[in-house]
Amino acid sequence: MPTLKIHHIGYLVKKIEKAKQTFETLGYQLEQDTVYDELRKVNICFLIKDGYRVELVSPVSEDSVVSGLLKKYKNAPYHICYEADDAEAAYQELTGSGFTAIDTPTPAPALGGCNVVFLMSPVIGMVELLYR
Ligand code: NI
Repeated sequence: MPTLKIHHIGYLVKKIEKAKQTFETLGYQLEQDTVYDELRKVNICFLIKDGYRVELVSPVSEDSVVSGLLKKYKNAPYHICYEADDAEAAYQELTGSGFTAIDTPTPAPALGGCNVVFLMSPVIGMVELLYR
């Protein structure tokens, strides 16, 4: 398995502006202000504290990819995103080790247009793989 490095923790929130302010109250610094991801119909921003990066993800409409998840999990962390020196090799390793891809590698506007793919593990839930 290529070395995986944690890039961010994805956090579902209903109200992104209030959530941003609340994370700032906790001492997080805004790293990247809100970007609209048209494909997934979500608003996304990034905050950092102590080297930990949190991604706030908030659905913009009912048919957003995360609207169902928000109903299920409420405001909560729901994925960890990893970057690999060789993301394609990591993808192959993960799909051969119990992870199932739930979409295909697709550009993420909030991450400079880099491709991301989401995978599901029956044991640990959702992970995101970032292609650099
Ligand atoms: Ni993410």
